[in-house]
Amino acid sequence: MIKIDKFKSEFNIFLESQLPNSNKIIHKAQRYALNNGGKRYRAYLIFLLGNDYGISKKNLFLMGSAIEMIHAYSLVHDDLPCMDDDELRRGMPTCHKKYNEAQALLVGDGLQSKAFELMSSNKLTIDDKDKLRCIQFLSESIGSNGMVLGQSLDMVNEGKLPNKKTLEEIHYNKTGKLIKACFTIPCIAAKKTGLYQKKLEKIGGLFGLTYQMIDDLLDLNPNKSILGKNPGKDLQKKKITFCSLYGQSKTKQIINSSVNEIYSLSDQLKLPDSFRLLIQTIYERVK
Ligand code: IPE
Ligand code: IPE
Ligand code: MG
Ligand code: MG
Ligand code: MG
Repeated sequence: MIKIDKFKSEFNIFLESQLPNSNKIIHKAQRYALNNGGKRYRAYLIFLLGNDYGISKKNLFLMGSAIEMIHAYSLVHDDLPCMDDDELRRGMPTCHKKYNEAQALLVGDGLQSKAFELMSSNKLTIDDKDKLRCIQFLSESIGSNGMVLGQSLDMVNEGKLPNKKTLEEIHYNKTGKLIKACFTIPCIAAKKTGLYQKKLEKIGGLFGLTYQMIDDLLDLNPNKSILGKNPGKDLQKKKITFCSLYGQSKTKQIINSSVNEIYSLSDQLKLPDSFRLLIQTIYERVK
């Protein structure tokens, strides 16, 4: 079993080598936004599942790089003054603070295209048909019926009264769907279909939603974990979150029962031990 720390040190070297290394502002700003200490949970998810399915490390690193680029793009845009207006990310000034808003916007655009360049390249040696399905699934997951929809709803609902339906729609789309893609992509690449895929995607969706609940809880309890971002922002921006609808202790209960459901589903599918360990590591942050 490869633990996350060992994975991260090897993966980060690979990830860094995927971006242009020039001194042009856009390239420096892209590297700044990507190579700055993200936890890499999404890439690790792809790796641990795909490794269990027998997919090569190089292919998994390429898919993981694409996902981390999309995630980094979403964070750079999320932090812009027209969105959450944040000054700290991963313990450092946000991309638009370090460079400027125009460059940060372009960094996000460039990272997104780079992700699709990697997913469609010949370096990724899975079947072309499966590659196309992965690319299609990823595009749907992050577009205006996925992550972008969630981000849009998150913004338009600032200051509004929370309700369960809207809350779940926001969280599932803005965070859940990219995380779900980390389950579906290795599953497609390994040609696993049918009931297995359905159950795996159920875990993916649940895990994605739970991940955002944990993020919401941490925003109110920064002392619990190293955040690397300024806390208390959700309250300040009057965001609809699990904590704003249910309060903190009920949110903790919901997280606890989701985690138990994830464990039981993952036992049914005989997911590797590294998966359970990852869930534990993430859950520990708010326990
Ligand atoms: C932060 O994600 C934003 C969410 C979608 C919850 P992470 O907490 O995984 O961010 P990094 O990549 O480790 O910085
Ligand atoms: C971010 O949600 C979701 C995406 C970037 C898609 P948040 O706005 O809660 O993330 P943080 O707390 O700024 O990391
Ligand atoms: Mg946001
Ligand atoms: Mg934010
Ligand atoms: Mg947050």
